[in-house]
Amino acid sequence: MTQLVLRGATVLDATGERRADVAVGDDGRIAAVAPDIDATGMGPAVRVLDAAGCVLTPGFVDLHTHLREPGKEEAETVESGSRCAALGGYTAILAMPNTTPAIDSAAVARLVLDLGEKALVDVHTSGAITVGREGASLAPMGEMAALGVRLFTDDGAGVQDDRLMRRAMEYAVGLRGRGQPVVLAQHCELDSLAEGGHMNEGAWSSRLGIPGIPAEAEELMVMRDLALARRTGAVVHFQHLSTAGSVELVRRAKAAGLPCTAEATTHHFTLTDAACAGYDATFKVNPPLRTADDVAAVREGLADGTIDCIATDHAPHTQEAKEQPFDQAPPGMLGLETALALALTELDLPLARIVALLSWQPARVLGLDAVHGAPIEPGAPANLCVFDPAATWTVDPDRSASRSRNNPYRGRAVRGRVRHTVVGGEPVVIDGEAQR
Ligand code: DOR
Repeated sequence: MTQLVLRGATVLDATGERRADVAVGDDGRIAAVAPDIDATGMGPAVRVLDAAGCVLTPGFVDLHTHLREPGKEEAETVESGSRCAALGGYTAILAMPNTTPAIDSAAVARLVLDLGEKALVDVHTSGAITVGREGASLAPMGEMAALGVRLFTDDGAGVQDDRLMRRAMEYAVGLRGRGQPVVLAQHCELDSLAEGGHMNEGAWSSRLGIPGIPAEAEELMVMRDLALARRTGAVVHFQHLSTAGSVELVRRAKAAGLPCTAEATTHHFTLTDAACAGYDATFKVNPPLRTADDVAAVREGLADGTIDCIATDHAPHTQEAKEQPFDQAPPGMLGLETALALALTELDLPLARIVALLSWQPARVLGLDAVHGAPIEPGAPANLCVFDPAATWTVDPDRSASRSRNNPYRGRAVRGRVRHTVVGGEPVVIDGEAQR
């Protein structure tokens, strides 16, 4: 039985673009895709949503979301973060493990997945590579993988110890035989070079008198992990690449046939370290905002396929935390609600390429592509995003669904707005409003 009809959009997925209406059945799957679906004879229980002038795509997948639960519920919860995701057009998100306690065991992973059951979008969780994300001993990745955890990272920090990282890769290769991807994702940052730094090391850090984090803190770890991946056969995903050198390293590794993937955050292709000039900690983030040349290189990486996904690194922090002096405030910025609009406004790329970066390419990294990012055809799960690519609006962090307000784009005029988000057949966002 059809329960929902989305009318009037241009459908865009990995197979191409066409004008079509989409009917969704009460089993949460797509029932029909056709140029003109007439809902009038289908009975009063069928909801019809107007999508005229909009693009209807598979829902987006964020590989990098900090949900702060357990431990920092004053900044975000699984529920509030998932509401931000739905409003941003996401149908699946991947929780990062730097919670308190860290997601480094099946018990904590289970807790987050259970909280995700009531969320507005599908919540997946990463698991930590090392116990407590402390970088000293390996976490029980096998028991987490048995729960369905597919990506492991110590995000918030990189694994510093070379030998331990090699062992993690060997462990991950051993787990792969169980029929699902096991990806090791790295927050590439060498503590020995980054320690004490609070922004990009360069002309701006000198001018502002803020200790810097050099590009090499990231690039040396990218280099090491590429070498270890070559040695072990592990699949490595590079998180939030921020420097021109990192992009070039990944470009060359891919050209040499290494099966690695990479993401870039919205802020690393839209903001530079000049944004720190006012000492406003809203612009403090890790890895830090870099130079205009780095931003150009990240954009080039997104354009030529070196970078597979746009990720948000949605990192909520309370106002109290962010109002501290720059060197004391925690790094991180919100991203889920603004990623699509920033990509559409700032990237000079075809629409299909932008949606690929937001939807099916990240879905493939996690092996979720049969459920999220899948072609829009009868039988596919109805995880969908409908957005108006021409709608203009002004970012207002005070209207965010997040518990936090640390969005660095306050007042910025952007183009492209999510109208409806459908998760498992349920319209969780209608006309830009979350339904629960
Ligand atoms: O800016 C960041 N914030 N970078 C990280 O790696 C962690 C994140 C957070 O959890 O706030």
